[in-house]
Amino acid sequence: MPTISALIITTALVALASAAPSRVKTQHTELRDEYDFVIAGGGTAGLTVADRLTEAFPDIEYGDVEVTPGFFDPPGSPPPATQMNYSVPVPTLNNRTADLLIGMTVGGSSAVNGQFFDRASRLDYDDWDYLAGEVSKDVNTRWNWDSLLPYFKKSVTFVEPDKAIAQALNLTWDYEAAYGGIIPRRECAAGNKDGLCWVPASQHPWASVRSHSGQGHYRDVIEDRPNYDLLVRHKVTRVLYPDGDPAQGPPMVEVRSLRDGNVFTVRPIAEAILSAGAIHTPQILQRSGIGPQAFLRVPASISSPIYLGLATTFRITRQSDLA
Ligand SMILES: *[C@@H]1O[C@H](CO)[C@@H](O)[C@H](O)[C@H]1NC(C)=O
Ligand SMILES: *[C@@H]1O[C@H](CO)[C@@H](O)[C@H](O)[C@H]1NC(C)=O
Ligand SMILES: *[C@@H]1O[C@H](CO)[C@@H](O)[C@H](O)[C@H]1NC(C)=O
Repeated sequence: MPTISALIITTALVALASAAPSRVKTQHTELRDEYDFVIAGGGTAGLTVADRLTEAFPDIEYGDVEVTPGFFDPPGSPPPATQMNYSVPVPTLNNRTADLLIGMTVGGSSAVNGQFFDRASRLDYDDWDYLAGEVSKDVNTRWNWDSLLPYFKKSVTFVEPDKAIAQALNLTWDYEAAYGGIIPRRECAAGNKDGLCWVPASQHPWASVRSHSGQGHYRDVIEDRPNYDLLVRHKVTRVLYPDGDPAQGPPMVEVRSLRDGNVFTVRPIAEAILSAGAIHTPQILQRSGIGPQAFLRVPASISSPIYLGLATTFRITRQSDLA
């Protein structure tokens, strides 16, 4: 098998702990000459992809770029999430603008949420199916509640309460219900959230520390992954195809240092993976000239109907928004 490597370019780290693994890179000069994969985004998706790839191909080198300022261990409450005024006037919000909250850290929004591991209702996921049109008759390849439920179940671990506490408080539990998907519902995870129900916490049951992708897919695995590098305090700005021709192989990934504004490119040998989240991935694509021409400020190099269906993720935070 060939030697393979990866670089993850992630959000910048403001408070990188001294216990941070040594393969966290903070500048261009610390990078290897070549990476097989370059992954833009060090959040929930990017780190998961990096973990899976570096595990499956131990001889491959990966790089991950995290794209914004953040923290490894978010202190206290409220959790640090950067409020970004990305919104243009939204017709469905009466032309108001709205703030978007983005988890700007290694681990992304999984590291800055309220430690509730909540699941939306069945109808919300089935709406994705509806939006996408009938893309497939095979339920296993569709994005709806039934096809996602096995993955939801895989993503949680039910931990029994301590025996003495369970006895003192007369607690009972139901394993199947804890993973959701059964009726009658006792858990919010069952796809029907009206009324009172339980939700799991994204917290380690004994250590009482936050469980997030920066922990599970980076810190916990990096020791055994000499092929896995993480670049922080940098943003991916766009991807560039040599001679504008996608047929010539993977694009160069353009990266900007948040410290000195220095811009450079990293060219993966095998593949560039954009996992920068619902906000930043379309932004990178559109800056790269990939998307519907109506949204681009550069000539479209690749026309693609990238959805801008963000209305449901807007969070109205200012009192004046409610007026
Ligand atoms: C976002 O909007 C609010 C209110 O209009 C303003 O006070 C704040 O400075 C803006 N933040 C940024 C990062 O532009
Ligand atoms: C929102 O803005 C658009 C474009 O300026 C305008 O045509 C439309 O009437 C506005 N809608 C509302 C509800 O004000
Ligand atoms: C403990 O819970 C069971 C089942 O929920 C119930 O039948 C029983 O009355 C409870 N015992 C006490 C002491 O509350």
